[in-house]
Amino acid sequence: MRSTHISFLTISASAVLAQNLSESYAPVYVDCPSDVTFTRPASDGLNADEETWLHNRKRVVAGALSKYLSNANLTEFDINSYISGLNNSNLAAVPAIGVAISGGGYASAIMGAGVIRALDGREEVSNAAGTGGLLQALSFFSGQSGGSWVVSSYTSAEYPMSDDLLDYWQPQINRFTAKINGTHEATTESIVLDIAAKAKAGFNVSVADFLGRLNGYEFIKGPRGGLNVTLSGVKNLPTFQNHQMPLPIIQFTKVTDKDQNQLGLLVPSMKSPTYEMTPYEFGTWMQPIESFADIEYLGTNLMNGQPANKSACVKGFDRLPWVIGASANAYEFWWLENHSNNTLGQFPKRSMGSGPQNKRTLSANKSRLAKRLESEFPAQQVEELGAPFEQYFGLDLEGYAYTRIPNPFRNESTAPQDYQLKLVDATEPASSLPLAGQLARNASFIIAWDDNSDAWPNGWENGTSMYQAYLYFKEHQIPFPIVPSPATFIARNYTIKPAFFGCEAHLTSTNDTRAPIVAWFGNAPYSSYSNMTFFQNVTPIPRVHDLWNNTFNQITQGSGSLDAEWPACLACAAIDRSLAKLDPPMQRTAQCQRCFDRYCWDGVSAPEYPGHVDVDSTLLLNSSVTYAEWYATIGKNLEGGGC
Ligand SMILES: *[C@@H]1O[C@H](CO)[C@@H](O)[C@H](O)[C@H]1NC(C)=O
Ligand SMILES: *[C@@H]1O[C@H](CO)[C@@H](O)[C@H](O)[C@H]1NC(C)=O
Ligand SMILES: *[C@@H]1O[C@H](CO)[C@@H](O)[C@H](O)[C@H]1NC(C)=O
Ligand SMILES: *[C@@H]1O[C@H](CO)[C@@H](O)[C@H](O)[C@H]1NC(C)=O
Ligand SMILES: *[C@@H]1O[C@H](CO)[C@@H](O)[C@H](O)[C@H]1NC(C)=O
Ligand SMILES: *[C@@H]1O[C@H](CO)[C@@H](O)[C@H](O)[C@H]1NC(C)=O
Ligand SMILES: *[C@@H]1O[C@H](CO)[C@@H](O)[C@H](O)[C@H]1NC(C)=O
Ligand SMILES: *[C@@H]1O[C@H](CO)[C@@H](O)[C@H](O)[C@H]1NC(C)=O
Ligand SMILES: *[C@@H]1O[C@H](CO)[C@@H](O)[C@H](O)[C@H]1NC(C)=O
Ligand SMILES: *[C@@H]1O[C@H](CO)[C@@H](O)[C@H](O)[C@H]1NC(C)=O
Ligand SMILES: *[C@@H]1O[C@H](CO)[C@@H](O)[C@H](O)[C@H]1NC(C)=O
Ligand SMILES: *[C@@H]1O[C@H](CO)[C@@H](O)[C@H](O)[C@H]1NC(C)=O
Repeated sequence: MRSTHISFLTISASAVLAQNLSESYAPVYVDCPSDVTFTRPASDGLNADEETWLHNRKRVVAGALSKYLSNANLTEFDINSYISGLNNSNLAAVPAIGVAISGGGYASAIMGAGVIRALDGREEVSNAAGTGGLLQALSFFSGQSGGSWVVSSYTSAEYPMSDDLLDYWQPQINRFTAKINGTHEATTESIVLDIAAKAKAGFNVSVADFLGRLNGYEFIKGPRGGLNVTLSGVKNLPTFQNHQMPLPIIQFTKVTDKDQNQLGLLVPSMKSPTYEMTPYEFGTWMQPIESFADIEYLGTNLMNGQPANKSACVKGFDRLPWVIGASANAYEFWWLENHSNNTLGQFPKRSMGSGPQNKRTLSANKSRLAKRLESEFPAQQVEELGAPFEQYFGLDLEGYAYTRIPNPFRNESTAPQDYQLKLVDATEPASSLPLAGQLARNASFIIAWDDNSDAWPNGWENGTSMYQAYLYFKEHQIPFPIVPSPATFIARNYTIKPAFFGCEAHLTSTNDTRAPIVAWFGNAPYSSYSNMTFFQNVTPIPRVHDLWNNTFNQITQGSGSLDAEWPACLACAAIDRSLAKLDPPMQRTAQCQRCFDRYCWDGVSAPEYPGHVDVDSTLLLNSSVTYAEWYATIGKNLEGGGC
């Protein structure tokens, strides 16, 4: 592994001062507008502008569904009467479909793009496989952590073809060490100077700024790593204005002084609320805050929902590179893992398991433990990420670990320590799947792409994220499908094939159909061993194509070779909840019922295993090729690396 050398920088104060401020990363102060609602209670429902936008999006979705469904080879289903039923419902029955991309760093970003490509009605191969066109029928596209990179990338570039976006990404470049050509030109010095401009303007800076500036050069199109691209600015993009894209939703969580303190750092819990950012707002649907703020003025010092100083409103705080840095900022966990011999800062996704047998197996087998530890953020990089903040900005660990923003929901009773919100990666306390924002918007079907590599030692998925999501929403009393523990995922082979949850009312936490159907896909080896690590930040283009083919084969079930009816089955799940909303309602077809018998979890849980089970599989489309053979003949030549 090559090492980065962030801390060797020497930057003089004059270099900081000489910066061209019109080219600065610093937010700017403007006079406060009089016609802006700076904050509002979540109990108002959706933001009014967003609600109008989503309604208009539904019109586009209805048209797109007609194309998608005719491609999906449904039998005994009258598409025309379905679509005219949607029309007649004044669009109220239009299914609210979303894709959610899990955390998982570069791996989930790359394979998340593979998911979008496999659903894209503009891709010949995807249409031929019967899954193309679902992308065009989405209302929501959500991400957290590495998943936020892919959501922000497609959104800000206005949904180019995936290959064109890849040309822009240039994932073969190591952004941590790069001094590269053209628009990708960034050095660790230039990034620290950007951050210095923000700090000098009086804003808190953190590791999130560094990660965001760095990954901005890969994922956010625009000069200087998307320097000027803001999330609120997405509203001005023609593709957004014409309702030709889904609503992007980026997720976070927050720590407060009431949270557990580990070695001086705060650790969120299952109770921690999910925060979200959209082009309209920042805020949370959850207690105790239950409020939203206009994202365009994020960073403004507000008191009781009004600017504390009418001539000092802040703009440009919501830069998209910062947003994706903040969503992926789990610095306090990386630090804790590295400073506690991996006993503190445990992500649920990397949990060692709590059973005594689990611990025994681990200590009995050092090489397995070593392999799991490999999946952690490399210790040296953790230290080097922090160093410039101590060296140049005089901050201590606690000062730069969290993403701090001025608390827009402050009122007279807010304690001084809560004048700032401390955001962290939403993957820390619970699930890596970004589902809360879609649930709040009554999604009726969600494709949950899970690539957070929870199933050590091989880096596949064992259902931990989906199960954690269920536990989290139960804690927060939000309707969700009932999800069994990983034992059932393993016993039922959900680790290697798609699984639908919440198909029937009695399989949801509320025994009704308020919860969506969630189709869970855990990254699995179909045509290639796709278990790259989340911090592999250098990936050659041929490997990306190889990974995309694998994801394609997973989403299309080998272009239907594993189940000729699969495209229809996916479509059945996508529209199922909407059938009952039509007037008159439509019935689930016999084909769809057959599909549900195959892909829906039926509510029966497998017995728990006494210990940990290694998820392991050979290629599902070519079972004779073992990992060792694949690596020797193919994998080795496609190898990435970095960090
Ligand atoms: C500062 O920015 C302006 C506007 O983009 C540009 O014209 C000018 O050349 C820049 N100056 C320096 C010193 O980079
Ligand atoms: C549904 O409405 C759209 C326009 O709003 C129209 O183009 C389409 O033909 C209608 N479809 C059906 C099946 O009624
Ligand atoms: C759909 O069905 C037709 C006719 O049976 C078949 O030719 C076509 O390949 C199928 N398409 C997909 C995507 O399965
Ligand atoms: C940078 O540009 C030079 C000249 O065009 C080219 O030879 C080199 O390969 C480029 N480097 C990278 C990493 O793209
Ligand atoms: C950012 O926007 C400012 C003001 O519009 C402009 O002067 C500057 O050139 C832009 N910078 C980049 C990198 O696009
Ligand atoms: C860290 O954990 C490993 C495995 O349990 C153990 O061998 C090692 O001694 C521990 N190191 C420290 C410093 O506690
Ligand atoms: C599933 O993965 C989690 C997270 O790594 C692990 O703690 C647990 O032991 C695994 N479950 C089984 C049954 O292997
Ligand atoms: C955050 O910024 C405020 C205002 O500049 C400053 O008073 C405070 O000390 C900063 N906090 C940290 C932890 O850096
Ligand atoms: C799971 O997959 C294995 C290997 O393909 C197969 O032998 C087993 O029957 C499957 N189990 C279930 C419940 O489908
Ligand atoms: C769920 O709802 C059905 C229909 O209303 C009812 O018959 C059933 O008893 C309910 N089940 C539970 C567990 O409440
Ligand atoms: C991906 O799949 C396509 C179609 O099967 C094939 O032509 C291409 O060579 C594959 N690419 C890689 C890198 O495996
Ligand atoms: C990838 O998965 C295969 C099959 O489970 C396993 O043999 C291999 O060790 C894994 N590779 C990594 C880097 O975890």
